[in-house]
Amino acid sequence: MKRILVIHGPNLNLLGKREPAVYGKTTLLQINNSLKALSRRLKVKLTIKQTNVEGEIVDLIQGARAKFDGILINPAAYTHTSVAIRDAIAASGIATIEVHLSNIYAREEFRQKSLISPVANGTVLGFGSKSYLLGLEALLDIIS
Ligand code: DQA
Repeated sequence: MKRILVIHGPNLNLLGKREPAVYGKTTLLQINNSLKALSRRLKVKLTIKQTNVEGEIVDLIQGARAKFDGILINPAAYTHTSVAIRDAIAASGIATIEVHLSNIYAREEFRQKSLISPVANGTVLGFGSKSYLLGLEALLDIIS
């Protein structure tokens, strides 16, 4: 059974209450429950983490080596700033899909650059909470 690490970055714990016009009304708990339901259908084992701390995301990615076959990550605001997370993904050698709820390319200029996309196997964005489900299916395609 393939093992997938899901990482939710900063402020995603507030989903549902946070800028619902941009991110929708779905809570992180609901997203995680949908991911778990899909993982049962796809027969993959999910481990799900959320942290607001950049270094903890780096630690999670470093620790994923030999424990996980793939990483599904929404780096949230660190998408646009974090060389450290970019480097951790590049070093990991683990298939990684970047996801975003919103279409970052249709938003403020500072969001229109992802430091993560060049080191990810692919990026799914703009489909709201469904981006995660599409991302999980895409990740499984890559690692199977
Ligand atoms: C986000 C987009 C980022 O620009 C933002 O900082 C987030 C969420 C998204 O999922 O659309 O926190 O990653």
